Amino acid sequence: MLKKILVTGGCGFIGSNFIHYLLKNHKDIHVTNLDLLTYAGNPENLKDIHKDKRYKFVKGDITDGKLVEKVIKGNIDAVINFAAESHVDRSIYNPSIFLNTNILGTQILLENAMKYNIARFIQISTDEVYGSLKPNEPAFTENHPLKASSPYSASKASADLLVKAYDKTFGYKAIITHSSNNYGPYQFPEKVIPLFITNALENKPLPLYGDGKNVRDWLFVEDQCEALDTVLHKGKPGEVYNIGGQCEMMNIEITKLIINELSKPESLIQYVKDRPGHDRRYAININKIRKELGWEPRHTFTEGIKKTIKWYLENQDWWQRVKSGEYLKFYKKHYGKSH
Ligand code: NAD
Ligand code: TYD
Repeated sequence: MLKKILVTGGCGFIGSNFIHYLLKNHKDIHVTNLDLLTYAGNPENLKDIHKDKRYKFVKGDITDGKLVEKVIKGNIDAVINFAAESHVDRSIYNPSIFLNTNILGTQILLENAMKYNIARFIQISTDEVYGSLKPNEPAFTENHPLKASSPYSASKASADLLVKAYDKTFGYKAIITHSSNNYGPYQFPEKVIPLFITNALENKPLPLYGDGKNVRDWLFVEDQCEALDTVLHKGKPGEVYNIGGQCEMMNIEITKLIINELSKPESLIQYVKDRPGHDRRYAININKIRKELGWEPRHTFTEGIKKTIKWYLENQDWWQRVKSGEYLKFYKKHYGKSH
């Protein structure tokens, strides 16, 4: 039985949702959260469970081998690696930190997990490692070649290759999950959905890249948590599982939906210069996880976006604090002073 779980990057968006999910759904599970608290890590995301005896926080870096060994040694049944630099636009300004955390950090975790015979290791990867699809191409399966476009996705693809290398060379079998774009509570407002919800609430422009017709396959974070819990308990070591929302949408469609939900004018939409190397379309085939593990998403986009908007409406203090910190500097550099 997997009872002592190490979650890395648990103060970020998906990690904090997943810790909440684990503690709520498994009374006998203990979670250690190793997080460096970068700009994207927010301990406030977990303030409601700080006193829970089943939860322990360790501030630190997954690239710090000594610390990782100390945390893993003798006390962990499973590792779930969420820790990463995760924003494509930032990876275009500063690729090196992405390589350091996402590649080296993963290798250090793998090395220690192997050394201490950790029964389960889940590497949280992304559909972005598969590259971009043309409009009529079939959705990515687990066998799709890795064809990353951005320094972010290249660093995640490199980590995936390391996971496979540890299996082939050393026989240490970790699981990789490739999920599509997540959205929901606690997402840092640099990603498009929380950025557009919060900008709309502040009556600020919604900066849509290029022609606004890029397509992503959206997954509500609660569904992602359920999928990861399923993979943790039923997944087969050495396997790769795609996790997707069955919900392809163009950015402009999402933008209009948010505007309508909040009763804001479409004049807030502002088309801006496209992202360099911007992938046109992601779509993910979930047949494997559906057939082998019995998981599929529960939320339609309409249900998920309503819950998400409600959360951002009810937690204005959270995102106003987040938006006024270090993030302001990035925002001005990236979108210019007129925004
Ligand atoms: P996030 O940016 O919200 O959170 C990342 C967390 O990792 C933060 O808490 C940060 O403090 C921590 N961290 C960063 N560097 C660290 C280091 N060196 N050591 C320890 N902790 C460190 O990211 P997210 O959106 O929650 O994504 C989590 C994982 O899921 C990432 O691996 C990402 O690649 C993957 N993923 C995300 C999405 C998505 O849509 N958000 C989709 C597919 C896959
Ligand atoms: P993002 O949330 O950064 O996720 P990812 O690049 O990992 O898919 O972007 C999602 C989509 O939204 C992507 O096609 C880029 C687009 N986008 C905008 O149009 N404007 C923005 O300000 C941002 C941040 C993203």
